[in-house]
Amino acid sequence: MNIDAARRQLAEAGLQSAVGGRASVRRFLPDPVPREDVTTMVELAVRAANAGNAQMWRFVAVDDAVTQVAMRQAVDDAIDEMAAWPQLAGSSKEIKALRAYATFFVDAPLVMAVFGLPYLSRADEMLLARGLSTEERDRLRARPDLQSIGAAVQLFCSAAHALGYGSCWMTAPVLAAPGIEGLLGVEPPARLVAVVPVGRPAGAVNPTSRRPVGEVLEFR
Ligand SMILES: Cc1cc2nc3c(=O)[nH]c(=O)nc-3n(C[C@H](O)[C@H](O)[C@H](O)COP(=O)(O)O)c2cc1C
Repeated sequence: MNIDAARRQLAEAGLQSAVGGRASVRRFLPDPVPREDVTTMVELAVRAANAGNAQMWRFVAVDDAVTQVAMRQAVDDAIDEMAAWPQLAGSSKEIKALRAYATFFVDAPLVMAVFGLPYLSRADEMLLARGLSTEERDRLRARPDLQSIGAAVQLFCSAAHALGYGSCWMTAPVLAAPGIEGLLGVEPPARLVAVVPVGRPAGAVNPTSRRPVGEVLEFR
């Protein structure tokens, strides 16, 4: 799809359907995702509100199957290493479930790797100058960098859905962050934050249930 056609489709999709109709998709058709569509998704993702407008996100779109398989192998290796931990003896069922939850991205035609760059606001600098620990600082700052990148990932997934693609926001593959960063040639201080497989859904996309809004919303 060219960029104008993608924009038209997005305009027609509407927010209710783009947001309310999205669901995590974990099985994909092999049809490739044109790079123009990926570009449109990222153009929308970066409209996210973000702390200080620092735009501390980077996106690496992987449509090369060999690289995708190497990424899956990196996750498998990380999980193999965990499986050997004495603390996880007797957890083979949980390890198997984790492996499935962390590796299905390899079956998608496109895998988006999302990276975060360090972000220090003026307030962070003040707290650092005062000598607060990372834990104390996080308590008072609530990770604006990760909140910003999360907002972009959510918009990316909604844009993908509006264009007729399925996606799944994944953090389990971050278990293999060093390996995946090395494979993609991403240098520190950038850090892997999420992996998002994208492709045409193989099956119906059924939004999952949510708690009634009255359970999660209060007015004071
Ligand atoms: C921060 C974050 C991390 C997630 N990590 C994974 C993951 O590693 N693997 C996976 O299959 N799903 C993952 N999910 C998807 C959630 O399981 C899913 O969003 C949730 O069950 C609600 O379903 P829905 O996305 O279909 O509405 C993640 C979602 C978020 C927001």
